[in-house]
Amino acid sequence: MGHPATAAAAAADLPAHILIFPLPMQGHINSMLKLAELLCLSGLHVTMLLSDYTHRRLRRHADIESHFSRYSGFRVATISDGLPDDHPRAGERAMDIVMSLVKVGGSEFRRLIETTDALSDGGSRRRISCLIMDGVLSFAVPVAKEIGIPVIYFRTVGACSFWANYSFKEVIAAGEIPLKGKEEDKYSYASKPELDFPVTSVPGMEGYLRRRDLPAFCRVSDVNDAGFNTIITETRRTALSDGLILNTFEDLEGPILDQIRNQIPVVYSIGPLHCRLEKEATLPSSSFWEEDHGCMAWLDSQPDRSVLYVSFGSVTLLSKEELLEIWYGLVDSGQRFLWVMRPDSIVGGDGGSPSIPVELEKATKARGYMVGWVPQNKVLAHPSLGAFFTHSGWNSTLESIAAGIPMICWPYFADQMINSRFASEVWKVGLDIKDTCDRAIVEKTVRDVMEVRKDEFWERARQMAELAKKAVSEGGSSYLNLNRLIEFLKSSI
Ligand code: UDX
Repeated sequence: MGHPATAAAAAADLPAHILIFPLPMQGHINSMLKLAELLCLSGLHVTMLLSDYTHRRLRRHADIESHFSRYSGFRVATISDGLPDDHPRAGERAMDIVMSLVKVGGSEFRRLIETTDALSDGGSRRRISCLIMDGVLSFAVPVAKEIGIPVIYFRTVGACSFWANYSFKEVIAAGEIPLKGKEEDKYSYASKPELDFPVTSVPGMEGYLRRRDLPAFCRVSDVNDAGFNTIITETRRTALSDGLILNTFEDLEGPILDQIRNQIPVVYSIGPLHCRLEKEATLPSSSFWEEDHGCMAWLDSQPDRSVLYVSFGSVTLLSKEELLEIWYGLVDSGQRFLWVMRPDSIVGGDGGSPSIPVELEKATKARGYMVGWVPQNKVLAHPSLGAFFTHSGWNSTLESIAAGIPMICWPYFADQMINSRFASEVWKVGLDIKDTCDRAIVEKTVRDVMEVRKDEFWERARQMAELAKKAVSEGGSSYLNLNRLIEFLKSSI
């Protein structure tokens, strides 16, 4: 299979060369970089394909090049994402990255494969022997077929979200989406009673999935919406590939993984990836922003399980009204909080801190710590953590589960809607307050998770953390699936 190896490569018995192409977004790159390190550790050669824009961000704030310099077979290659440098690449407009790459990606990608192969110089690296592509970049399939190499998709979301996306056609056929009525502002849309109707057309999720819990791509009034159809098409095309990698584990999403395997027989559940390396410290920082480590000293001065960690990921945008409602709710709860307020996250903000009422300022000085970006896994591992107020991005969800931290889920868009439903109703490791933004609800929910029902949530979170640890330990399901994946990759030459 694969290219006729050059004489030099065959003679040198070089390892297989894997090209990994993540969607250029923080959440996607984090998990794919961790996979890249695991493949390098197994002796494979890896070329990581980043967008020019992302590469510049990572060089500014992360230590990728230095971290990966220990692996002689690791390289970074770059491709344009087709967007101007000043594009916000945040909020709802983050979808532009997908649409742009799907449009320009094919030709750019083909050119890049040829140049990367040329880069392989025949002596120290083979030509590319397998592609690992982000699950929304199906243009790679024809290219891979043409040059005769396998392509595996890595969808960096949970199995629950992938399977719901895969079932969108059935959900439309069952008339469960779209919701009638015109596009309104998100809270009046979310107040529609039909959003609480059950969804019965996603196999394996009957009994707890409501329309409002479907991935937010469904929140369109016209099923011909371009973004919605891109997700449908790209997800369905996964079945054309040689396999699907998911950053999850069998004890977390087994029933859904079984549903997926009915359509896509080769599924590698290998997560939580961030736990896979011996020591957290060996993980490369892959942050797009400067990490503030000062918060760790503040956490050291707080009692055990007393701090609510608040972070809404790398894409979420908040209006000033939403910011104040959440802020008042946190302050009124009386709890201590560490809040990551990403510099670009306030709509209409100028990047500086918004002018805030004096009572919030005083209470925050007394019990809070505000910061722009933190080493999240180190924060989640800190003994002072009491709960995680999250937007339910998949990496944050998995990191919280692996750390054994209960969650308050306030999803923003995309897969976050279904992740929050699973966290509250299926895994029972937190409470879901999607589609609300009200200081009284925030206050009550914080009190429930950190006081009233604290023991219940801590016990569930502890159980799930143990299952996560078991999955990645020797003999565990994720451990064995990663070995299976590596064997396949090594045989791709
Ligand atoms: C995006 C989508 O929004 C999300 O829905 C999808 O599941 C993955 O791609 P993002 O919004 O960035 O991800 O959220 P998430 O998946 O949680 O990834 C954020 C990453 O940034 C996590 O790995 C988290 O550890 C890290 N992070 C976050 C930091 O390192 N520091 C911070 O201060 C905040």
